[in-house]
Amino acid sequence: ESMLDFVQQLPKAELHVHLEGTLEPEHIFSLAKRNGIELVYKTPEEVVAAYDFHDLPSFLSIYYAAMDVLRTEDDFYELAMHYFQRAAAQNVVYVEPFFDPQAHTSRGIAFDTVINGIARAQQDAAASLGVESNLIMCFLRDMSAESAAEHLEMAVGHLDKLIGVGLDSDEKDNPPSKFAEVFARARDLGLKLTMHCDVNQKDILEHIGECLDLIAVDRIDHGVNALQDDALCTEIARRGLGLTVCPVSNRFVVQNLTGNEIRDMLARGMKATINSDDPAYFRAYMNENLMALVEDADFTKDELMTLTRNAFEVSWMSDERKTDYL
Ligand code: HPA
Ligand code: ZN
Repeated sequence: ESMLDFVQQLPKAELHVHLEGTLEPEHIFSLAKRNGIELVYKTPEEVVAAYDFHDLPSFLSIYYAAMDVLRTEDDFYELAMHYFQRAAAQNVVYVEPFFDPQAHTSRGIAFDTVINGIARAQQDAAASLGVESNLIMCFLRDMSAESAAEHLEMAVGHLDKLIGVGLDSDEKDNPPSKFAEVFARARDLGLKLTMHCDVNQKDILEHIGECLDLIAVDRIDHGVNALQDDALCTEIARRGLGLTVCPVSNRFVVQNLTGNEIRDMLARGMKATINSDDPAYFRAYMNENLMALVEDADFTKDELMTLTRNAFEVSWMSDERKTDYL
């Protein structure tokens, strides 16, 4: 059996994928046409050629600009459905996708338009593709805590559609503590909590520390820099906290696939998982991320199985459902 066959047939879970980061160049064109939007690019190939990311801000500016083509509930439905189709084709059977409502409400798109389109795709994907999912609403950390709080209140009528809240976008000078109140309220509403601690960001060890001690997160997105502090690693391992690592994303944004770091996490008993982050932009879905670890860091089948098992273990699916996969 080839490594690619092994990776393909393994039932997998994805816990760190931004739905807006699954917007493929071809889809940008079809949505622009349907919505009467003029693009500065003439072909999908030109769009890909413009993907020149070297750090988090340079990625984010392209990511936010492209999502302007998303306007109607059907657009959000299609966005999510196209991702779920790709997930199904790679035998990703369970997903906890992120979405960024503030990136849409700030353009005049109603919160309900966004969440209702995504939720409808989740239902159809479960029924027709066998891909189950639970949605995580992210706040943009470079916007105000007040805006985050307002969006959390918009979500109160949709709690049946959400499993948790997250925090993403530009991390520089936007620490977890800025959102302590909003996340406390989210927990009171019964939501799980996760936050991005992006790789090699300013004040990153303080941010990870605040996630643990102030926010009491249920998971950490990225979190690779915890390895620089033994006490953080010990605490993350002791709590059994999942870390959603995104190798190909890291290769783009910080020029490091983080293979050695992922191995180090496993050796320390930290629950590392492998994820695609923004697969349309980094041109790598789940299987391409796993194969990058095989090809460029010599990961073994055993290591890939451990990482995949970790993802089911630290996922927020019901304990009853977990027994199907563990
Ligand atoms: N980091 C922070 N914000 C994001 C990312 C990321 O990797 N992807 C989409 N929004
Ligand atoms: Zn991310």
